[in-house]
Amino acid sequence: MKPKVLVTRAVFPEVLTILSGKADVDHNASDDILAPSALRARAAGCKGVITCLTEKIDAAFFDACPSVRAVSNIAVGYNNIDVTEASKRGVMVTNTPGVLDDTTADLTFALLMATARRITETERRLRNGEWKKGFALQQWLGTDIHHASLGIIGMGRIGQTIARRASGFEMNVRYHNRTRLDGATETKLNVHYASFDAILRESDFVVVMVPYSTATHHLIKAEDLALMKPGAIFINTARGGVVDDVALIAALKEKRIAGAGIDVFEGEPALNPDFLKLDNVVLTPHIGSATHATRMRMAALAAENMTTALTGKTPPNLVNP
Ligand code: GLV
Repeated sequence: MKPKVLVTRAVFPEVLTILSGKADVDHNASDDILAPSALRARAAGCKGVITCLTEKIDAAFFDACPSVRAVSNIAVGYNNIDVTEASKRGVMVTNTPGVLDDTTADLTFALLMATARRITETERRLRNGEWKKGFALQQWLGTDIHHASLGIIGMGRIGQTIARRASGFEMNVRYHNRTRLDGATETKLNVHYASFDAILRESDFVVVMVPYSTATHHLIKAEDLALMKPGAIFINTARGGVVDDVALIAALKEKRIAGAGIDVFEGEPALNPDFLKLDNVVLTPHIGSATHATRMRMAALAAENMTTALTGKTPPNLVNP
């Protein structure tokens, strides 16, 4: 008999075909987020669960579903899973690193450019019939991206991929990270190390790209935003909660910073409604990795992690060895 695996959200048919060869698959094809009790009921008796960041996998889940031996998250971030509780019970947890770096860096740059050049705001104005004067010299002026300074907080794979994008715009890139990159990588990427405060104080653009955890909860709060230049732009394509949204909204409202491009929100999808009242933000609904090719790669990698874990072998992306 094949082991039972629950796939908590809708995934590509190709990926289901791969999985079905190795497992008896229960697929939540309706794609509605399962409430914790429904999730536990559906995972009962399963050997593995393939999750998205919308499912909270915590001690209560593991207690209710002791048959689950592997949780494979279709995401690089896995803050929705209590890895300590999983490890205590010998449950394998996997993620999907590497396959989404370029796509997420592309979106980060798209947000940076859209915010700097006021693309969504001016399109709204055009659609609203506000383009009355035609071309006007002082109308809807934005911020230059080329030759500006970019500060990246969090220099893992995605941070480094963002830095590579920036070199095409001849930006001056500095970064802050828990561990400094080696000299050869810094030279290759043409980036310089700086303190957290210096990045905030001196950058025209600040991009945050750190995983969410208790250590990075509200890593950027009012006092950090207060360090930024009045003309600076802040970008978050990492995780909601890394930034204090209330403090960010206040800084944007009072024009203490020029703008923000935000893909992730505290408590998403229920974002703070005050974001919607601001013109100096570009808001996207957590689409950092959302291209067909990349989401397909993520789901296929999650399936590979699961099928490997089901055989008892070490899956390629085990986060709790
Ligand atoms: C998406 O946010 C991911 O962590 O992959």
